[in-house]
Parts: sequence; C-alpha cells; structure tokens
Amino acid sequence: MTRNQKLERDAKWVRRFKKLYDRAQSDLCEVQGSEIHGRGVYATQDIPKETEVIEYVGEPINKEISENRAWDQYARHEEHGDAAVYIFTLDEKWDIDGNVPWNTARLINHSCDPNCEAWIIGRRICIYSLRDIKNGEELTFDYGFDVECYEDHPCRCGSENCVGYIVTQEQWPELEKRVAEKEEA
Ligand SMILES: C[S@@+](CC[C@H](N)C(=O)[O-])C[C@H]1O[C@@H](n2cnc3c(N)ncnc32)[C@H](O)[C@@H]1O
Ligand SMILES: [Zn+2]
Repeated sequence: MTRNQKLERDAKWVRRFKKLYDRAQSDLCEVQGSEIHGRGVYATQDIPKETEVIEYVGEPINKEISENRAWDQYARHEEHGDAAVYIFTLDEKWDIDGNVPWNTARLINHSCDPNCEAWIIGRRICIYSLRDIKNGEELTFDYGFDVECYEDHPCRCGSENCVGYIVTQEQWPELEKRVAEKEEA
C-alpha cells in the first residue's frame, strides 16, 4: 500500500468515527453520578413523550463475536466489578457493541419503571421517551434481561414497583414464581 493509500484509508476511518461521534451527541441529556449505579444519563431539559432522546451507537458485530465479547466483558465485571456489558441486540444477525467512550447512551441504567425505550429504526438504535420526562430526571429503560440468570443482576432502581432483579417485564410472572420457589426451599 502506498503512503497516499494509507493516508486515504486513515482519513476514511476518521470520517467514519466523526459521523458516529456526531450521531451520538444529544442536547437533551448529560452524564452524571447516579443513585441507581455508577454513572447515569440525566435529562437536561423537559422532554415530551415519544421524543428521540439519543442514539445508541457503536460497532456492528455478528452474533459469534458478540457472544465472545459479552463473556469477556462479563468476566472482567466479575473479576474487577468495574466493567459492564454494553452489547445491544440489533437484529437476528447483528448486535451493536456500544463500548466506545462517545456513546453516552451506554450509561443509561435499567429501571423496573422506565421512562425510555430503545427502538430499532432500520440499522439505528434510538432511545425514545415513553412519557413526559422532567429536566433533571434520570433516563432509564428496560434492559430486557432474561429471567434465567436473574440472581446475577440485582436491581437497585428504587422505583415503587421494583421487582428486585434486572429482568424484562415480560418475564416478571416467571420471576415471581422462581423467587417464591427459592424462598420455600
Ligand atoms: C451499561 S452499564 C450502565 C452504566 C453504569 N451505571 C456505569 O456506570 O457503567 C450497565 C450496568 O450498570 C449497572 N446497572 C444498571 N442499571 C442498574 C440497576 N437498576 N440496578 C443495579 N445496577 C444497575 C449494572 O451493573 C449493569 O451491568
Ligand atoms: Zn428495579
């Protein structure tokens, strides 16, 4: 590869990352310390219901790479407690690894009473408000975690209807059953 070709290749990458960086910016929210966990994302103005608040950007990866990375990230989390899993399902073939510093949306915490939801629009993952959100409120969404390993993910969202674990709302009846069985045992 010639020097010019290398420069052109590098410039292409810079343009690509600049585009991703621009897409990840939002005037509607900012990062602050969270009472739920670590850092969280907070509204910087009143946000009406069904507004696109911020895009969840990252690297598109196939399911095989995704599974390996998820295990690596999870192992780091188990060992040091300082890493989290930032992989987001896009479709049947592709996921998005949002573990890049400019992806502010990666810091949105889970809640059992979320005020946002992730919508897949084409090949974009967008965080939309589910209801009116007040300036200063923490943004949250349902992580959609499976009930299978619920004990690994205790929930500290602090909402009145918190079920105690980060589990998708669709599986709350199953979670209740499992927790009751465990208590009886
Ligand atoms: C993608 S990160 C979110 C940002 C995170 N607060 C941080 O500072 O890195 C996901 C991790 O945050 C934590 N988390 C998010 N929502 C939570 C909740 N409701 N209760 C307890 N921990 C939560 C869990 O450790 C989860 O694996
Ligand atoms: Zn909760």
